[in-house]
Amino acid sequence: MLINKQEPFERKNNMKAIGTTNLNTQRLILRKIKKEDAESLFSFGILGENLEDATNIINNMVQCNDDPMTFHWALEYEGIAIGRIKGWEVDPHNNFVQLGYDIGVPYRGKGLMTEAVKAVSKYLLKECEFNRVYCMVRESNPASNRVCEKAGMKHEGFLRNHWIQGDGSYTNVHYWGLLSSDI
Ligand SMILES: CC(C)(COP(=O)(O)OP(=O)(O)OC[C@H]1O[C@@H](n2cnc3c(N)ncnc32)[C@H](O)[C@@H]1OP(=O)(O)O)[C@@H](O)C(=O)NCCC(=O)NCCS
Repeated sequence: MLINKQEPFERKNNMKAIGTTNLNTQRLILRKIKKEDAESLFSFGILGENLEDATNIINNMVQCNDDPMTFHWALEYEGIAIGRIKGWEVDPHNNFVQLGYDIGVPYRGKGLMTEAVKAVSKYLLKECEFNRVYCMVRESNPASNRVCEKAGMKHEGFLRNHWIQGDGSYTNVHYWGLLSSDI
């Protein structure tokens, strides 16, 4: 019989649960989400069906700000929050974390998300000591696939018909990864 049993062993390379820390890039301040971000993030279509909804979502996010296993940043540019980036699907056993991100339409195509992905990946791999940061991106999202490529991730796989869509059809997904040993 095959049993996938995890043998107990002394771990010497656990990721560090140090949560969201301020990071600066050339043009961005990456910082914890603030209550005041609701208006701009809603106005850019990043979250919420309406401002009240966005405010509720932001309030829930703010409550998690100091959780050491939360890795979630607002992208502040010229004094306002224009997007966000989050390390989620955190796996503290295998030391990997998935990245998700979103930036307002007026700010796209300026290289800003690539800047954020590079800074956050470096923080997660070098300061938090994850072994792997990865992104899963629909085939139909060339901008996001390009961000992964420009951020130095390796193209590790192509998952056929991986995610179901609103109309019931399935979409192919690119799998990108960056290892601590890559940087
Ligand atoms: C994906 C996203 C975060 C990119 O952010 P961004 O700040 O515009 O990214 P960058 O400017 O750093 O890079 C975008 C790259 O994609 C390219 N690109 C954009 N649209 C493209 C298209 N339709 N076809 C091909 N390339 C495209 C840009 O030209 C740029 O590449 P370049 O620098 O070689 O010219 C942004 O479009 C977004 O928030 N989209 C909606 C949410 C989303 O898709 N999130 C990711 C889910 S996996």
